Amino acid sequence: MPEAFLTAENLHKSFNDHKAVNGISFTIYQGEIFGLLGPNGAGKTTTIRMLSTILVPDRGDATIGGHSVRHYADAVRRLIGVCPQELALYPDLSALDNLLFFGRMVGLNGSEAKAQAMANLEAMGLIDRARGKVDKFSGGMKRRINLAIALMGHPQLLFLDEPTVGIDPQSRNMIYETIEGLRDGGMTILYTTHYMEEADRLCSRVAIVDGGRIVALDTPYGLKSKIGPPEQVSLEDVFLKLTGRGLRD
Ligand SMILES: Nc1ncnc2c1ncn2[C@@H]1O[C@H](COP(=O)(O)OP(=O)(O)OP(=O)(O)O)[C@@H](O)[C@H]1O
Ligand SMILES: [Mg+2]
Repeated sequence: MPEAFLTAENLHKSFNDHKAVNGISFTIYQGEIFGLLGPNGAGKTTTIRMLSTILVPDRGDATIGGHSVRHYADAVRRLIGVCPQELALYPDLSALDNLLFFGRMVGLNGSEAKAQAMANLEAMGLIDRARGKVDKFSGGMKRRINLAIALMGHPQLLFLDEPTVGIDPQSRNMIYETIEGLRDGGMTILYTTHYMEEADRLCSRVAIVDGGRIVALDTPYGLKSKIGPPEQVSLEDVFLKLTGRGLRD
């Protein structure tokens, strides 16, 4: 049996009277890419914010590497890396200085930070732009830096919140290959997207989220099998069947 690395139990979060997350539970096993797939406003980012200790759940809890996000946030933070949906970069700094800054923030010494920053820039195809100011970069290059930052400190669990939104195919493929390489190296990954092709390609299991709840959870193949021959249907069809709406409504 694979070992659970993250277990979310009955997470709830409301903003004013709006239930953004309304009782979400799931388990992520060590070394898998687990997808949260859902339309705008489904509650994906709010779930990630609770799991990454940025927001305290109204109800429920999660354990990551055996530590409660509610009670042992510091221990959780040492295990995770977060690639946020909104870019979190210093536009006036170079790519390298961004990575060095965040490397020091996660406790690396100068030489470790430099070594990891150079390795991450290389992996993202940005080593030639290491000293270029980030505000001059294309959207795809900024997304790649956003991911490279999340990898500083070699987290055991990586949260990727729509890491490929609005980017060119070259950057997208580089990000896919990087993520697959990280998984092959044993990293555990939570991936959110509203692109079903991504979930299909990358994720070993997918939770379909709508209105703050999980409406289905299975392998992509298992989800598709529920509504027809898996070769002939898409996760978009599954979502439509489950909710009566398209993923991109
Ligand atoms: N800080 C906040 N204050 C008020 N409402 C919020 C806040 N954060 C999220 N919400 C609301 O909670 C709901 C869920 O938002 P969330 O960002 O988690 O969705 P999402 O699935 O990540 O959507 P998207 O695909 O657009 O990123 C939305 O209705 C959103 O407007
Ligand atoms: Mg979001």
